Amino acid sequence: MVNDEVHLPKWLDEYIFTQLKANYCPSNSDMTVIDWDKSNVLNYLGTYFPRSYAEAYCIFSRFFIKDLLSWIFKKKITVFDFGCGTGGEILGLLDAINSVSANLKQVEITVLDGNHAALRIFENIIRRYSEHAKNDIVCRVIPTVIEDFYDLSILDTVLTNDFDVIMSFKAICEFVTKERFEEQNAYEHIAKTFLPKLTPLGVMLLVDVTTYNNVSQEWLPLMMDKGLNSAKCKIAMKNKGYNQIFTVSHSHKESDVSKVAWRIIQNV
Ligand SMILES: C[S@@+](CC[C@H](N)C(=O)[O-])C[C@H]1O[C@@H](n2cnc3c(N)ncnc32)[C@H](O)[C@@H]1O
Repeated sequence: MVNDEVHLPKWLDEYIFTQLKANYCPSNSDMTVIDWDKSNVLNYLGTYFPRSYAEAYCIFSRFFIKDLLSWIFKKKITVFDFGCGTGGEILGLLDAINSVSANLKQVEITVLDGNHAALRIFENIIRRYSEHAKNDIVCRVIPTVIEDFYDLSILDTVLTNDFDVIMSFKAICEFVTKERFEEQNAYEHIAKTFLPKLTPLGVMLLVDVTTYNNVSQEWLPLMMDKGLNSAKCKIAMKNKGYNQIFTVSHSHKESDVSKVAWRIIQNV
C-alpha cells in the first residue's frame, strides 16, 4: 500500500534549503511562474518543489506497483517533462522507480521550460542527484518559451525520441491562463501532440491544480477531462473524486498539503 504522506529525502531538503537558499512561502494567487525572477523561483523551490516531489512519488509508486512487470526489468527509461520548472516531479519519479526496480541502469531525461532561473536550479539539483545516484542520468534541457501553436509544432519536430514517461505537472494551467492555444482546450492540444511520442507501454501523467480559471471560465479538472475526452485518451488511472490530497514534510513545514487532479494516459 502506498501512503500519500511523504518526507522529502534528507539530502534534498538540506540541498534546497541550505545550499540553494529556498524559502517556504505559499501563495494563493493564480501563478504564472513563467514570468518569475530568481527570488520568486526560490520561494517556489521551498514551497511547491517538495509538493511536486511528493505527488510524483506517490502517483508513480502506485502505478509502477500496479503495472510492475512492465517496469521492474527495465534497464533504461526515457522521460520527457513539459514545463519542468525546478523539477520536483523528476526527483519523485526517480525515487519511485528505484524503489520498485533494482535493474534500472540509465535514465535519459528531456525537460522543457521557458523560465531560465528555474532551469538553472533544476540543473544544479539533478547534478547533485547524479553524484550519488544508482543510475546513470543523462539530461537534455530545452530552454524554450512555447508562445503558441507554431512553437509547439516546432517542438514536435525536434522531439524525435519515443518516451517511456511523458509528464506535465502544474504547467498546463499557465497555458490556459495565457491563452497560448487561443480558444482550443490546452489539455487536448498537448495530449494530441505528445501521445504519439510514447513507447508502446509508455505512460503520460498530467497533474494540475484544481482551481477555477478566470480566463477559460472553467474549473481546471473539468476542462482537463473534456480535453482528454475529445483527444480520445485512454485513462489508465486517475485521482478519486474531484482532487487528491498529498502531504509532504520537510525542515520548513510539517505535513504541508497539496490538492491536485491527475490522470495517467496510455496508448494501449
Ligand atoms: C507552476 S510551475 C510547475 C513547475 C514544475 N512542473 C513543478 O511541478 O514544480 C509551471 C512551469 O511551467 C513553465 N511554463 C509555463 N508556461 C510556459 C510556456 N509557455 N513555455 C514554457 N514553459 C512554460 C513555467 O516556467 C514553470 O516553470
